Amino acid sequence: MSNLDTLESELLTAIENAGSESALEDVRVAALGKKGSISEQMKTLGKMTAEERQVMGPALNGLKAKITTAIAARKDVLADAALEARLASETVDVTLPMRPSPTDTGRIHPVSQVIDELTAIFADMGFSIAEGPDIETDELNFTALNFPEGHPAREMHDTFFFNEKEDGERLLLRTHTSPVQIRTMRTEEPPIRVIIPGRTYRCDSDQTHTPMFHQVEGLVIDKESHLGHLKWILEEFCKAFFEVDDIKMRLRPSFFPFTAPSMEIDIQCDRSGGEVKIGQGDDWLEILGCGMVHPNVIRNCGLDPDVYQGFAWGMGIDRIAMLKYGMPDLRAFFDADVRWIQHYGFRPLDLPTLFGGLSS
Ligand code: DAH
Repeated sequence: MSNLDTLESELLTAIENAGSESALEDVRVAALGKKGSISEQMKTLGKMTAEERQVMGPALNGLKAKITTAIAARKDVLADAALEARLASETVDVTLPMRPSPTDTGRIHPVSQVIDELTAIFADMGFSIAEGPDIETDELNFTALNFPEGHPAREMHDTFFFNEKEDGERLLLRTHTSPVQIRTMRTEEPPIRVIIPGRTYRCDSDQTHTPMFHQVEGLVIDKESHLGHLKWILEEFCKAFFEVDDIKMRLRPSFFPFTAPSMEIDIQCDRSGGEVKIGQGDDWLEILGCGMVHPNVIRNCGLDPDVYQGFAWGMGIDRIAMLKYGMPDLRAFFDADVRWIQHYGFRPLDLPTLFGGLSS
């Protein structure tokens, strides 16, 4: 057996015996690396006579090719075996239940849902959304809205005041969303059509009152809008929101400093079965206050009440949410009890739309 034959059979045995990809790599380096046995043999070609080289050249190249092929083949076998071993050890039980994703377990709070619902309804009628800060000045919360200093209507708002500042100004937590009417009229050119959802605060707590609650205000200001338009808008809103074909409404005279005339609106309901059903029966339920914006308020915003007119309304969001979804106690809205939100909450991807259905 020639030297080359011996080398070949030694290398083939080593390749066959390599038990892992890294052991095989060692064999490759030992044969074909810079100082490998085949490479060393190659280097001797230069010193050979032409005749010797004619024989040894092809023989060495043949050996190199054979070993390279053998290593590649062994590598495939080892990679397959490694994969088999991994598959055997890392079993996956495809029958196990999947871990639910946050979009399955998370819930949207009914107040957020109802804000989305009423936004969808009013946006469809051409309203945009306006917002203002929770901490307000006395001027915007009261004075500009035509509550004169010392007027008893101020007392009815059970206001949370901050401590007086050095300059004597006393900020407060807004008691209603109406100050955003002023902010809007002072910054936007009529025609104005906005709804203003947001948090409001009053020092009050029982089954249907919490110190923080939500209102949505509506404001329309232009040159000709009147109570007929207001009635139509609120009727359409109530039908869409309570998802009923028809609803009877009753307008009762009332008083708000910032509207004249002022009204409260009741909607038809049925209380006979222990729960309140909207759009049937012959009982009434108050749901909002409204009226034509008082000329003083329009003037306080720098607009001429002989040119501009319009109407506004204010509605409790929590209250209409309780009515629509049958939630008896308002305080539970803000208890952060996960069982409550799992029961009354909405699935995150079921966004309310007019075409898809508000609450389906
Ligand atoms: N701001 C009133 C409240 O909190 C609600 C209200 C009544 C708002 C009549 C209005 C309105 O815009 O016109 O009791």
